[in-house]
Order: sequence, then C-alpha cells, then structure tokens
Amino acid sequence: MRFFALGLLAMAACSPTGPVAVFPKSFQFGFATIAYQSEGSLRGDGTRVASNWSEWDELGKIKGGQHNDHGNGFFEGYTTDLDLAASLGANAFSYAIDWARLEPAPGVFDDAELGRIVAIVQAMRARKLRPVIVMFHWVTPTWVQSPKQGIDLLSRSDRAFAEAFVPLVDHVVPALAGLVDDWLTFEEPYSIVGAEYLAGLHPPGKFLDIKSSQRALVNLMYLHARTYHHIHQLDTQDADGDGVAAFVGFENLALESVPLDATSPDDVQAAKHFDYIVNHQFMKGIWEGDIDVDLDGRADNLKTDPPEGHDEELRHTLDFIGLNYYQRMRVEAGGILSKVAPFFGTPHLDVREYDTTLPHSDRYWEISSPGLRTVIEEYSKYGLPMNITENGEADLDDDERPFYILDHLRKAGEAIAAGYDIRGYYYWTISDNFEWNDGIEPRYGLFQVDFTKPNFPRTRTPRAADVFEEVAKRGAIDRALWDRIALPSYPVGPP
Ligand code: BGC
Repeated sequence: MRFFALGLLAMAACSPTGPVAVFPKSFQFGFATIAYQSEGSLRGDGTRVASNWSEWDELGKIKGGQHNDHGNGFFEGYTTDLDLAASLGANAFSYAIDWARLEPAPGVFDDAELGRIVAIVQAMRARKLRPVIVMFHWVTPTWVQSPKQGIDLLSRSDRAFAEAFVPLVDHVVPALAGLVDDWLTFEEPYSIVGAEYLAGLHPPGKFLDIKSSQRALVNLMYLHARTYHHIHQLDTQDADGDGVAAFVGFENLALESVPLDATSPDDVQAAKHFDYIVNHQFMKGIWEGDIDVDLDGRADNLKTDPPEGHDEELRHTLDFIGLNYYQRMRVEAGGILSKVAPFFGTPHLDVREYDTTLPHSDRYWEISSPGLRTVIEEYSKYGLPMNITENGEADLDDDERPFYILDHLRKAGEAIAAGYDIRGYYYWTISDNFEWNDGIEPRYGLFQVDFTKPNFPRTRTPRAADVFEEVAKRGAIDRALWDRIALPSYPVGPP
C-alpha cells in the first residue's frame, strides 16, 4: 500500500504537466521559532531575565550594541503569529522554551512562565497547529552559564550540565503531556560548540577552546539522552489520538559539506572530516552510544577528556532526526582551524570568500537546494524518520526567497516520492526576529517586522509568503507556481 502510494506520488511528480511535487496528507507544513529570539529578555513586569544571553547583550557583544529586550513582540502577541501561520496554511508550529525564564534559580520555577507556555500550546491547538516543543535552544540561566561571573557548567568534565537540566524536564513535560506529542530535546550541537568555544561569537565567548568544546559536545549528548528518557517516562498521553504519546528527536545542523577545490586532495579530505564532525559525530554518540571525543571516527581513546567509550544510556535515544538545513558549506584545508586537532579541516567559508556570483542569502550563505537531498540521503543511513525542522533564507528584498522555499520543498517532495520518510518541513521563521549576535539585521520572516514601533507590526512579504501558502494549502507544488517562481540562474535541474 505504502509503495503503491509512493509510486503514485512519483508518477505525479514526474509527469511534464502534472504537479512538480505532491506531499502526503499527513505532511507537516510548519513554522519554527524560539522564545529568546522572539520574546527577548524582559519579563512581563519589566524585570530582566538573568541568562547567558541577557548578559551577553549587556556586555555589548551584539552587533552595533543592540539589545534584545522584546524580541519581535511574541511575548505579548503570540496569537498574532499563530494566526498568521494558520492563515498561510500551516498545520504545525515549533517553539523552543527558555530555560532561563522558567528556572531562574536551581529548583525554583516560575509558574507564570510555565502557564504562559501552556497557553501558547493551547493557542496552537486551537488553530489546528500541531505543537512541537524544543526543550533547549542555547539560552541558559546564569547559574548554568554566566559570561559575567565566569560560570559554565556546559564545559565541565562532569555531568553537571545534564543534571542541572533534568529538573526542568521533569517540571515542564507533565504540564504539556496531554497537549504535546512531538518533542525535540535540543538543537544543533555543532552550532553551540562552534559559536561558544571556537569562534567566540556566543557566550561564553571562548576562542579556539578545544578542551571546552569537546567536553560540551559530550555534555550535550547526556543532556539529550536524559531528556529523551525523561520525556518518554513523563509523557504517556497521546495528545492527538494517533497512538503515539511521545515522539522525541533532536535537531542537527545538517550541512552539505563540499571541498572548496574538488581537485585538491587536502580540501576533499577536509570536507569529509567536516561532514563527519557536523553531521555524524553527535549521531554516533546518541544512536550508537559511542562517544568520539577526538573526532577520529572511533570511540577508543581513554586519554581524552572526558575519556571516550561506549555508554548504553546514550544509545538509540532518538525516535526521529530533525534536520536543520540551510546551506552548502565549502571547506578548505587551510586557515587557522585546520591546524588545530581535532577540528582539522573545519574552516568553512561563506560565499563572499570564494564566489559571490553563486546564489546566496543576505548573510552570504551559499544556497544549494540539491544539498537538502544530499543530507537526506546521508542521514537515511540511521533508518529513522526525518523531519526538516528548520529551513529558511535571510532575504530582506524577498527576491530570491520565494524560489528558495519552493525548490527546497520540491527537494523534500522528490525525496518522499523516492521513498525517504520525511514527516514535515518547518520554515524558519514566521516573523523576523532577533538573530543572536547579529541582532535584527538578518530577515528570515515571511512577515516583516517593524522593530521601531512598540507593537512590532508585521507586514506580509510580497512573494515568499504566497509560495508557502500555495504549497501548504494545496499539499503540492503546481507546475504553474513553479513556472511563475523558478529562477533560471539557479543551478537546479528542471522538474
Ligand atoms: C538556529 C536559529 C537561527 C537560524 C538562522 C538556526 O540554525 O536554530 O536560532 O536563527 O539558524 O541563523
């Protein structure tokens, strides 16, 4: 039955006049956002949340000295964004909670904040948006990580970080168990260690601190595994009646990694190593239970800190994989990180460093929709369902983004037709928000936000919102839409 249905999808997608892609009825067309980026650091009463990120902006570390007080107004106005998402035909919405708001001191929970999250989730359900909750997305209370006080549990060699997180899981999950089935433990281990301990861009702002980055990766494996097990213990209520009470994954930064110079054996080797680090080292930990600290593909070095080895607690702690796919990375075997073990080969470049004539976002991220298919194929080796938990383009003019969305959706549709188990596509993000250390400059939203006005008014993007809406409402990419939106300059084949 399943193969018959897939065959029909494939036939429909291949016919020269039929739709370019057809999605299964159950396909999730969603939006993703997170508390900190859309709500900022102020509480309803005007006091400041004490977090690693509120300190980071107090320390003047955000571009141009910006402060993220209110995000994009989601704190007060979340129903606006949920209405907008539903109006575009979305049937799912992913939201990451903010640990710092919820647990300002160890074991002390803010019930009003938890109540607000319950209300947000109820508001999603009232709009037929399937709620997806992300438990950890980079923001910690200052008792966990404080750039001002030099506190950092994440880089310790014991399990303090994961142990500190478990009480939050135990507090939040029961309150949402009857409303939520889809959970993500946390997101993007490599982005965390890359920005916090290697590039110094995110708190605690360490530069090439290899030891901390290695410890952090392992601590995140334990945060993930413990959260996974606790969610399964605590959420035994099937909220949507499909027979599954809890479906738990994590989001990995899925990058297509290609050598800058395909004829250079060193670049080829560097790209392979980078692919392993970003896409597979963490998976090895939480899927096979093998902790590879020195990033050599094995888990047999007892001299690393922490020592490598196998841990059954970590193994098979995934029900699905969330792929956050944005771009292609070109990797070259030169530059500072290529000399630093074990991150050999990590220098990845953005397009301004090699060829600005290639399609790219406002942030100079090279666009490659075929790369989405590449990472889907790569990750399929784990034999798990996949969900495209984030995909998006920063594009103030909204000139390339319509096609960006359309062609990534097309790749997802083609992959489904070819038999890959892709459950959904979540666009990052519904309304422009605060992009970490880059502040409000990068504009990802399908609704543009005027950050100068107190109520943060939204304006629909001229074209990209139409594309999402048309595909989500039809459950297909019609050829007329394709013909209207396709950009001839993109290196993609005809459908
Ligand atoms: C992160 C988001 C971020 C987006 C765009 C994603 O990988 O999860 O927090 O806003 O990238 O940079």
